Amino acid sequence: MPEKVIILDFGSQTTQLIARRIRELSVYCEIVPYDKFVPGDASVKGLILSGSPWSVYDPDVCRIDVSSLRRAYPILGICYGAQLMAYSAGGEVMQAPSREYGRARLSMADADDALLKGIEVGSQVWMSHGDTITGLPSTFRIIASTDSVSAAAYRVEGELSFGVQFHPEAYHSEQGLLLLSNFLDLCGCNRSWTPASFVESTVGDLRSMLGNDRVILALSGGVDSSVTAVLLNKAIGRNLICIFVDHGLLRKDEFGEVMAAYEGLGLNVIGVKAADRFFGALKGVSDPEDKRKLIGKNFIEIFEEEAGKLKDVRWLAQGTIYPDVIESLSITGTVIKSHHNVGGLPERMRLRLVEPLRLLFKDEVRRVGIELGMNEKLINRHPFPGPGLGIRVLGEVSPEKVSILQEADSIYMNMLKEHGLYNNVWQAGAILLPVRSVGVMGDERTYGFTIALRAVTSTDAMTADWAQLPYEFLSSVSNEIINKVRGVNRVVYDISSKPPSTIEWE
Ligand code: XMP
Repeated sequence: MPEKVIILDFGSQTTQLIARRIRELSVYCEIVPYDKFVPGDASVKGLILSGSPWSVYDPDVCRIDVSSLRRAYPILGICYGAQLMAYSAGGEVMQAPSREYGRARLSMADADDALLKGIEVGSQVWMSHGDTITGLPSTFRIIASTDSVSAAAYRVEGELSFGVQFHPEAYHSEQGLLLLSNFLDLCGCNRSWTPASFVESTVGDLRSMLGNDRVILALSGGVDSSVTAVLLNKAIGRNLICIFVDHGLLRKDEFGEVMAAYEGLGLNVIGVKAADRFFGALKGVSDPEDKRKLIGKNFIEIFEEEAGKLKDVRWLAQGTIYPDVIESLSITGTVIKSHHNVGGLPERMRLRLVEPLRLLFKDEVRRVGIELGMNEKLINRHPFPGPGLGIRVLGEVSPEKVSILQEADSIYMNMLKEHGLYNNVWQAGAILLPVRSVGVMGDERTYGFTIALRAVTSTDAMTADWAQLPYEFLSSVSNEIINKVRGVNRVVYDISSKPPSTIEWE
């Protein structure tokens, strides 16, 4: 087990960001709901208490014993975490006259304090709080202030316990990463969490866990399942059997291209062409969740049929990554769309589950892929939903509509790549709207479909902004699509962010 820092999550929007920043500093960390942490694991080097939508006075918040945690670990409270630590030691927390949100500058910072080493007066910090600390217990000492918040940072005398009212994890806190790094030094963490160390230790663990057992894995063409496959292949070679199903809802030419890439990587892959079966199942169905469920169900059936032909399979591998794990642990999370297509499979098939990437964020998965020598093209592919174009043809799906969408999407993707924009966005794709509108081409009246183009920037798909692609680029894409794709006479660009919209339209 690598050394780690634990983030006790009180439901803040930025908890994941804290974890990512700690990992960027080459220290492994995990997020644990605040009431689920069990002390005693010697690999835990320090604790971070996250922010929260709650107030320390909130009667619904069950209390944790912060003082005993303070005795056991170096500890950093962030925002609510800082308030909770001060309040639970007898300090005073009050509602600020107005919620403070946005940039502030440190008007005092005690650079002699190890937490603030290298941090300058005037450094910008990001604030987002309704409550504020108005009185500190006697052993607590202020080490940084802003004009409006005197206890912007404090430490407890004689302990490695600290609190900061601002958010060092936020990108707007100019020296936030330095502060987190100072805290990791105080915890005595050795910076050994790197893609190479992850690959080495995971391959070793997989070998001892799986021995000579056979493992099956559903490949999707996406980064997560591909990296899972390459990692397992490195550990157990031909005992990994991958299944890649063509449900007819992939991008244009994707099945052949991805199969070739997988074979080039030396993977043992069974390709299954099953488009007719999926189109048959989707006939007459237009509700998004019904479509997802039908696609998921057929996918599982095909996967089971294929797996049934193999002997002695004991394990099912999945490309689950950390945000999926956190979402299922989350203390506030609500499910908006049922994303997890292979859920339920291991129990039905009586297989044990192996998820070698379950501790990694997406950017870490990509770095591991590069470490494993995978092609950047495969690594940098945009996320693509399991139900594929099935949820990008809005309403009822037919082979004709999918083929129109494939053509439009292919033009859009190729042009993003040609213009060097593909890697600047998190995800892009075309959507076929279920409406038709009037146009004119030559002297002819047309009555054709509308294609919506979507491109977003994001770090984890939990929130996303619409990407501000250049007008000239959008104009060329629109011309190409309308000129080359029969049946389409209108192209629009989606300028909605998530929330309140979502990335996919269905
Ligand atoms: P939304 O639309 O919820 O999407 O903002 C967030 C991310 O999840 C992907 N997505 C899916 N992935 N099965 C998947 O495997 C699904 O049913 C599904 N729906 C959305 C979406 O492409 C984005 O990356």
